[in-house]
Amino acid sequence: FGYKYRTIDGLVLPPYVTPKRLAAAGSVITRANDICYCSFPKSGSTWLANVLYLMLHDGVEAEGDMPLRSNLHWMESSWTFPRTKAEVDAMPSPRIFKSHMPHGYALGGGPSKAPCRYIYIARNPKDVAVSYWHFESNQSWSGGYNGPWEHWLQLFVDGRVQRGSWFDHVLSWWQVKDAENMLFLKYEDLKRDFPSQLRRISNFTRHELSGEAFERVVNASSFQHMKQSRFANHGTMRGFEGFFRKGEVGSWKEQFTVAQSEAFDKLYKQRMAGSGLDFDFD
Ligand code: A3P
Repeated sequence: FGYKYRTIDGLVLPPYVTPKRLAAAGSVITRANDICYCSFPKSGSTWLANVLYLMLHDGVEAEGDMPLRSNLHWMESSWTFPRTKAEVDAMPSPRIFKSHMPHGYALGGGPSKAPCRYIYIARNPKDVAVSYWHFESNQSWSGGYNGPWEHWLQLFVDGRVQRGSWFDHVLSWWQVKDAENMLFLKYEDLKRDFPSQLRRISNFTRHELSGEAFERVVNASSFQHMKQSRFANHGTMRGFEGFFRKGEVGSWKEQFTVAQSEAFDKLYKQRMAGSGLDFDFD
C-alpha cells in the first residue's frame, strides 16, 4: 500500500523531516520562558496549541487563523518559520515550539539539558491508532496512506507509521516526567476535568489567568467551539476533518475487532509493564 515516509536512524518520519532540520532543532539554545509542546501525532496537540495561545493572550482568539504554522513555531517541517538559528534567535519571548519527535530528538536537547519548559501530551494508543488512520488516509500532503485498517494497525503496532512506535515515543518522554521543567499531560485527563488540567498548565508555565480569562480559555477550548471556530479550525485545513473528527475517548471501539483489541491489550501490557504509566480507554 502507498505510504510516504523517510527513515532517519531507523526512525520512520514524514519526508519533510530532514536530518538537517532535526539537527537545527536539537541545537536551539532555549530560554527559560520558552515552551515546547510535544506529542505523538493525533494525541491532542492542536488542542494544547489552542490552550497555549489563549493562555498567552488572555483567553482571546485572534481575528485570523490560529497561528499554528507561524506563531506556534516548529522546526521539523519545510514550510514553517523558523528554520535557521538566526530566525530562532530573533523571535521574541515567550517563544512556543512544537515537536512530534521522541525525547531523544527533543528541541534544545530535552529537559535535562535545556532550560525551556516542555509539555508532553499523550493519549491512549487505540484512539491514537484510529485517529491517525483517518488522518493519514487518502491525503497527499503527508503520508498519503491508502491501505485498509487492519494493515494500518499492523504498521502502528510495528512502529512503521510516521514518528515510529507509539510505545517508544511515549515512554521516552515519560522517563523524564519528573524533571522540574517538564509537564506530562494525558488527553483523557483533559477530557475528564479540563479546568484542573488548565490550572496545571498555567501554574507550570507561570502564566496566571484571571477568573474571566480562565473561563474564556475553558469555553474556547471545547471541541464544539474549536471545530467551528475560524481561529482554531485553521484556514488551509478547513473542511478537512483530521484535526477535529470526534474528539472523544473510546472511539476505537467502532474500529477495532474483538480479536484486534485483545491482541493490542496483550502488547500494551507487555510494553507498559513496570513503567507506572497507564491510560483510560473509555
Ligand atoms: P479524533 O480523530 O479521535 O477525533 P492532533 O491535534 O494532535 O492531531 O490530535 C487530533 C485529535 O484531537 C483528533 O482526535 C481531534 O478530534 C482531537 N481534538 C482536537 N481538539 C479537541 C478538543 N478541543 N477536545 C477534544 N479533542 C480534540
